[in-house]
Amino acid sequence: MAEHGREYLMIRPEFFEVVYAINPWMNPSVPASSELAVRQWIRLRSIVEDIGHTVHCADPVPGLPDLVYTANAGFVVNGKALVARFAHAERAPEEDLHAAWFQRLGLDVQRATQVNEGEGDFQFAGSRLVAAYGQRTSRAAVDEVAAWSGLPVVGLELVDPRFYHLDTALAVLAPADDAADIAYYPPAFSPGSRSALRELYPDAIIATAAEAGVLGLNVLADGRHVVMTDAAPTLAAQFRERGYDVIGVEFSELLKGGGSVKCCMLELRR
Ligand code: ARG
Repeated sequence: MAEHGREYLMIRPEFFEVVYAINPWMNPSVPASSELAVRQWIRLRSIVEDIGHTVHCADPVPGLPDLVYTANAGFVVNGKALVARFAHAERAPEEDLHAAWFQRLGLDVQRATQVNEGEGDFQFAGSRLVAAYGQRTSRAAVDEVAAWSGLPVVGLELVDPRFYHLDTALAVLAPADDAADIAYYPPAFSPGSRSALRELYPDAIIATAAEAGVLGLNVLADGRHVVMTDAAPTLAAQFRERGYDVIGVEFSELLKGGGSVKCCMLELRR
């Protein structure tokens, strides 16, 4: 099973809490339960394993509440890892840990020199990468990833602080296909990037404000399954109509940090 599956890095939200606000979802005065976050996360991990993937878990660290969002650890392709360089000081101490974990996983590790929040802002979409800049990842990082990976990269500009990473505003449902099947929320992007998306992906699913507003686009998709929050039923129905096997999860706690399913996974492409 695992040999056809993908590999992901996850970190248990043992020390999850909302004690600072670096995105509009985070409100330190709203209580968040790390116990409930752990339960919801364990359920997610077992679903990912049940559908045939391998999960590698790194250790949680006290004082780093956002470590659970491993999508931001870096970007991994062809056995090479480009370690993130975080936009906010609160997450900067994660960088050395991620570099060490990538090393332990046997990856060829390099550090990003530009502000770059990893797979949160970079996704495979068919034969190219789509990348987002304008909120966290810098414009210069898009060029750095293109040079580092040797892959064509389409840069898209994010303009709404609520949709501060690409994976909050755009989902690639069938990443391995030549013509990627995607879903996105147009108002998160600049007018120019919206027209680029329309042209590149004319058949894309368009998410509503309500469904994007619960991070319904922040899904784990492997071309066959879509694992996502149970709070976006319309989007889930649209995914089912396209033939995907949709698995809903309750993900209330980690949403309080501004993330959903996809934010908690980093794909390790060997
Ligand atoms: N609190 C985290 C931050 O603001 C959430 C990261 C969510 N990750 C993601 N890939 N969208 O950095």
